[in-house]
Amino acid sequence: MMRLTIRRPDDWHVHLRDGAALADVLRHTAARFARAIVMPNLAPPVTTSAAAAAYRARILAALPPGATFEPLMTLYLTDRTTPAEIDRARAGGIIHGCKLYPAGATTHSDAGVTDIRRLDDTLARMAETGLPLQVHGEVTDAGVDVFDREARFIDTVLAPLVDRVPALRVVFEHITTREAVEFVRGAHEGVAATITPHHLALSRNALFAGGLRPHLYCLPILKTEPDRRALLEAAVSGHPRYFLGTDSAPHARHAKESACGCAGIYSAHAGIELYAEAFEAAGALPRLEAFASHHGADFYRLPRNSGTITLVKSPWTVPAGYPFGEHVLVPWRAGETLAWRLANEPQGGVAA
Ligand code: DOR
Ligand code: ZN
Repeated sequence: MMRLTIRRPDDWHVHLRDGAALADVLRHTAARFARAIVMPNLAPPVTTSAAAAAYRARILAALPPGATFEPLMTLYLTDRTTPAEIDRARAGGIIHGCKLYPAGATTHSDAGVTDIRRLDDTLARMAETGLPLQVHGEVTDAGVDVFDREARFIDTVLAPLVDRVPALRVVFEHITTREAVEFVRGAHEGVAATITPHHLALSRNALFAGGLRPHLYCLPILKTEPDRRALLEAAVSGHPRYFLGTDSAPHARHAKESACGCAGIYSAHAGIELYAEAFEAAGALPRLEAFASHHGADFYRLPRNSGTITLVKSPWTVPAGYPFGEHVLVPWRAGETLAWRLANEPQGGVAA
């Protein structure tokens, strides 16, 4: 049987939610990843260090017994986030970045930033103190085609920002386009990107294959096949400024299978296995460890993890559903076979 042992990886972008659902999704992430950058788009959003500390305590309390997992907290930027809030974040030691959601871009982004220029002082303080900015890179102008929103964001917001505040460390989250791959490759070394497993595997055709596929709807939306290929090339390239971020984003089944379905793909149940599949398909399995376990830690100036995980090539069928608080969520690849399995992980889901 083929086995692959790598240094314990980290997930540099995940949604863990809150309340009754938190423990249900956290167990998947904590079984694979030593640490994760936890998104702050709760309702209400995590806008202060005090709220982040309270959320962190709820995450730690929801861990399965014996799990060792460190949540890396983030703050949600609003038009009113002050430089003093950045100082508090820095002093507290648990905050590892601030997330820019352009207002209205995605789930729970209503309180996000309406105009980045309102945050000049706050971003300057982040640059001074070395606190990274995590960016949801899409313009929100309804007049811009949904497939063009990332590329337009690069031209109108991100490139000017990186020029204006060159000392700011920026993670361009969940990149989806060839333009984003090229932007990061050409940018200075304080600019990096995360890449999701679904954007490595799927192009937008998958959204409409045989009918409308609500479980493949996410933001930024899946793009074209040439975009997917550019992302895969970047991920397997060994370039240190591309790294793993699943963007696993659970929603209850009824909220996805709806006349107005929520954006988000759940991948935490196979958060490293799905990348192994993509890297293997590209003939690049030996490059997985650096992408999953080295590049992100180095960029965030954190030590690489000690310990390892082992993946075995042993097919398994993804359950139709997993518990999600009092609801059920439908995981990506439900009912399909995955080639790689995490050694030692208990399987099992629910009939959805
Ligand atoms: O598809 C998405 N789901 N994109 C986001 O930016 C947010 C996320 C969520 O929180 O559900
Ligand atoms: Zn996200």
